[in-house]
Amino acid sequence: MSNKLVKGPTRANFVLSDDNSLLTLFGRNRAWAASKTLTDPRFFDRLVDQQRPRYFWIGCSDSRVPATEIVNLDPGEMFVHRNVANLASASDQSFSAALQFAVDVLRVQHIMVVGHYGCGGIEAAMNVDSEDAIGHWLAPVRTLYRHSCQDDSGQLSANALCEQNIFAQVEALAVNPIVRAAWSQGASLELHGWIYAIEDGLLRPLCGPVRAPGTTGSSAVPAAPL
Ligand code: CO
Repeated sequence: MSNKLVKGPTRANFVLSDDNSLLTLFGRNRAWAASKTLTDPRFFDRLVDQQRPRYFWIGCSDSRVPATEIVNLDPGEMFVHRNVANLASASDQSFSAALQFAVDVLRVQHIMVVGHYGCGGIEAAMNVDSEDAIGHWLAPVRTLYRHSCQDDSGQLSANALCEQNIFAQVEALAVNPIVRAAWSQGASLELHGWIYAIEDGLLRPLCGPVRAPGTTGSSAVPAAPL
């Protein structure tokens, strides 16, 4: 007996949506693809062959912080992982798989944790202690907030916690087994902490570069803000 509920959509019965805005997205996509090949007819042919990004960007999912657009890079130039509040947790399998691919396969040279001021995830971690998906995800940030408040003997502002969270993620990367293994094999891999301001569209370096232990010029985390 067939079960129609589990039968997926096929090309024959697929209808995009009644929402015309989705059709607009396909139109915008065709215009974008055409613009890329206008001055560089082989642009997509080259991408099919390989990707050789030098950078691995760990950023927030916030729609106002589009990774490659902010640094004006083309497809193929930056490997990207985004989640709520730009966490680099070794216990997150999705993140770990992306990190391993970036480090072991793509052999990126720079990993940047990029947070942003006004982060809704950071603000939620300060104000909400729920048992739902967001509450579980943000538990490490909530713990960081409580510890930071104790250390500073007072309340931490949301933007200060955005910065503290970036320091914490770079610290976590510096002891991540995938990063440590790459360093022990001589990889010239650098870690960086950056923050983005939505109000002016500018990136600012916060800490780094963190290099393999014993490497000259490596910065401790957290470094003084530049
Ligand atoms: Co955010």
